Amino acid sequence: MPSRPVVVVGAGTVGLSIGWRLAEAGQPVTIFDEGKAGRGTSWQAAGMLAPDAEIGFEELDLYALSRESLRRWPAFAEELETASGQNVDLRTEGTFVVADDPDSAERLRRLYDFQQKQGLDVEWLSSEAALEREPFLAPRLSAAVFAPADHQVDNRRLLRALRVAFEEAGGTLREDTPVQSVAPRSDYPTVTTASGERAEARVVVVAAGTGTRGIEGLEGMPAVRPVKGQMIELKAARPFALEHVVRGPDAYLAPKSDGRLLVGATSEERGFDRRVTAGGLFELLEGARQVVPGIDELEVTATWAGLRPAARDNAPLLGPSRLPGVVLATGHYRHGVLLSPVTAEEVARLVLEGETSRWIEPFSPARFNKAPTAA
Ligand code: GLY
Repeated sequence: MPSRPVVVVGAGTVGLSIGWRLAEAGQPVTIFDEGKAGRGTSWQAAGMLAPDAEIGFEELDLYALSRESLRRWPAFAEELETASGQNVDLRTEGTFVVADDPDSAERLRRLYDFQQKQGLDVEWLSSEAALEREPFLAPRLSAAVFAPADHQVDNRRLLRALRVAFEEAGGTLREDTPVQSVAPRSDYPTVTTASGERAEARVVVVAAGTGTRGIEGLEGMPAVRPVKGQMIELKAARPFALEHVVRGPDAYLAPKSDGRLLVGATSEERGFDRRVTAGGLFELLEGARQVVPGIDELEVTATWAGLRPAARDNAPLLGPSRLPGVVLATGHYRHGVLLSPVTAEEVARLVLEGETSRWIEPFSPARFNKAPTAA
């Protein structure tokens, strides 16, 4: 009997990356997605690979994982481009984090001090020095930090390339096929689709992001909630030619090589609401214009809202779940694209060799199993 496939639930950047890594290792893989592959949260992202600019004060494990994933990104992109024959627009210019008033400059100073303490390669720049390196920054910023090691990728190109590479490696993609339930079992867990089809698996990997919630059989898993992010796409036209990713206090801007300039993103706890609102767009445009005033004349080409998948502590869920035969690779929150290489490679290793590496161990779903301590 042919060996049972690994079944991956969810064809976003994480699910496709895991599927690709497993398929190229010779493992049969089937990915189920409720819609079209790569058209969910990953499609709606900005593709920033910016652990240095986005380091959080109490998130050192997450920073270590992010930095490791960034280290793997150039090789991951190169292999993917070779496997798919498609360019993913990996860019290495670095990120500017900027402040436009004394309060935000003080917050930026605290971030910079923390970055320094952690040994990050970042530079504190005067407004003039920042402007020399990125002429499209506002001329009178209060402060700027440059993170030269940060990268970015075109997440939409990435998703197209992952799909091709996965299928070229022999993976099976089942689109428009929602998984209704998962039946855990250590020998062969099974998934059942909404149309009643049953698939036996070697292992089930849940990479369904905010879609995890509706799947029967996974109710006991740590919850993944949606955090809404509204985005605006502008069309960059000469003489406007922003080179770097810029993070201001209220918006970020990510220029892609095909001329799209992504302005994001709000952060809203509103359940599964996907509406684009006047207030959201206003906040983003005002925030972007404060730090890059040259956007005024650019055409707005699209707006949308995505739903980031977040666990209770906003850190990813990576590794064996308490359900036999079910591995989680979800809850990547703001960092799904950045964390795809390390997630894919370490989850593939877990599935193929049974080994939980030091990289994903701190993000084990078991961290939520602990009984609450008495006050
Ligand atoms: N990583 C960018 C965002 O979540 O908006």
